[in-house]
Amino acid sequence: MALVSKTEFYQELLTQTRALICDETDSIANMANISALLFDALEHVNWLGFYRVIDEQLVLGPFQGKVACIRIPLGAGVCGAAAQTKVTQRINDVHQFDGHIACDATTNAEIVIPVLLNGDIISVLDIDSTSFERFDQQDQDGLEAIVKVFEQSLILER
Ligand code: SME
Repeated sequence: MALVSKTEFYQELLTQTRALICDETDSIANMANISALLFDALEHVNWLGFYRVIDEQLVLGPFQGKVACIRIPLGAGVCGAAAQTKVTQRINDVHQFDGHIACDATTNAEIVIPVLLNGDIISVLDIDSTSFERFDQQDQDGLEAIVKVFEQSLILER
């Protein structure tokens, strides 16, 4: 990543995401490939994946990394907060976040981006890092743009 700016890095990643999912409308398949693409591309990330909203809970979906908590109640942890508020949660130090759920004890920073369909929360993208303050505003903007592309593919699925 050092040879290109962060803006260029995320533009390239956005292009790759579009190419990866443009011919496919199955959301699980797209979550799986987006997880693999981002996990491979992002540095200092130890866990990355989706939780799906099913019956008022977040249920583990496609991911990359170590085994993780399977079900999280809406409102619990960083993922639950993102799902309940529909606002991205960018946490510089998870140990300072009241209610953080430690699936992997080595995680120190986390970003969770809500995935919306017609204004309803249907999923979240959760990314963990061992580096404190791993995610800045540019990371948030870049990742939210990628999630927007995924959201557009969900409209086609219906
Ligand atoms: N840390 C999350 C739980 C999910 S794992 O990080 C994979 C949370 O507090 O919601």
